[in-house]
Amino acid sequence: MDKKIFVTQPLLPALSDVEAELAQIWASKWLTNMGAKHNELETKLKDVLKVPNVSLFNNGTIALLVAIKALNLPAGSEVITTPFTFAATPHCIAWNDLKPVFCDIEPNTMTIDADKIEALITPNTSAILGVHVYGFPCDVEKIDAIARKHNLKVIYDAAHAFSTEVNGRSIGTYGDITMYSFHATKLYNSIEGGCLTYNNPDLVRKIYNLRNFGIRSEELVEEVGINGKMNELQAAIGLLNLKLFKNEQEKRAKVKAFYDAGLKDVKGIRIPQMPSTATNSYQYYPIVIEDDYPLSRNEVYEKFKEQNILTRKYFYPACHDYECYKNDLAVKLADLSVVDDLKNKVLCLPYYGDLEEEVQSIILNRIKYGFRS
Ligand SMILES: Cc1ncc(COP(=O)(O)O)c(C=O)c1O
Repeated sequence: MDKKIFVTQPLLPALSDVEAELAQIWASKWLTNMGAKHNELETKLKDVLKVPNVSLFNNGTIALLVAIKALNLPAGSEVITTPFTFAATPHCIAWNDLKPVFCDIEPNTMTIDADKIEALITPNTSAILGVHVYGFPCDVEKIDAIARKHNLKVIYDAAHAFSTEVNGRSIGTYGDITMYSFHATKLYNSIEGGCLTYNNPDLVRKIYNLRNFGIRSEELVEEVGINGKMNELQAAIGLLNLKLFKNEQEKRAKVKAFYDAGLKDVKGIRIPQMPSTATNSYQYYPIVIEDDYPLSRNEVYEKFKEQNILTRKYFYPACHDYECYKNDLAVKLADLSVVDDLKNKVLCLPYYGDLEEEVQSIILNRIKYGFRS
């Protein structure tokens, strides 16, 4: 390829629309601190995400940090989570002075294996943090039952699951709090940004405080908060992209159908399947390169790279391999055999609405014919 093909391309509103938004912001002279655009986006997202409460943030990581903080988990307690995720997930647990306990994953959806959670529960466990990785939903019903039985809190990282529904219900209504990321690489973006969604109205005040230095009013600082506020420029991009994301999903659905049809009978290539109860966010297109494919995942990655096609080894290394976690005794003793297998086999293919059909065909044929041509 003459030009580099990236794994994704950001959803971008028309520049003229951005200019019109900027003109309004300039006229208002209000750039941040829960401004008009911020409040409009918060209201609109309740409808789009079909959730009762939304709190916007400057990025998904700060949102997740605050979500964990808001639940007042006992100091030093354990949070059971998946190692097959982006660094932010376990780091947010650790930054809250809690201990991430890594659980193995389920081979199809690659989300935390709900059947392996109970064996990891100790008197010190306070919460479960699941990730709807690539947009595949965790087994939310099973996790909910475990949490109720053991009196645990449940947090979800839905950074990849914008608009996902399970059994006709928004993914953002499961568990105690759900985090969405609106980073530029996400299906729906506000350049950087994110939000928390939750059912419990008592959390509104708590989360507002935590993302705004604990400040309630000019002379009242109620608690120890940080700065998690989304600014007006981010919110304006978010408002414009709200009008565009469905069309992007439709375009990605076509790319998916093309990849699916072309790859379904290729020996050694497995396409993880969305459960029939869930809708697709169209965030990523992961394939699993099994042992009976002629090349390893790393070889496929390198072959594509030589041709200027940049796939991603999401998630390699897995989080339990990081320098900051790997020496923990529990990590050394943990059975993470599924994740240790899949971290060497999963590859995310270029996946965005404007991916040219010619490029899609090249990608498909390279995989189909084992890079022989
Ligand atoms: C699974 C997951 N969790 C958390 C994050 C962090 O979100 P942000 O980049 O908005 O801070 C990301 C991506 O960036 C992610 O992919």
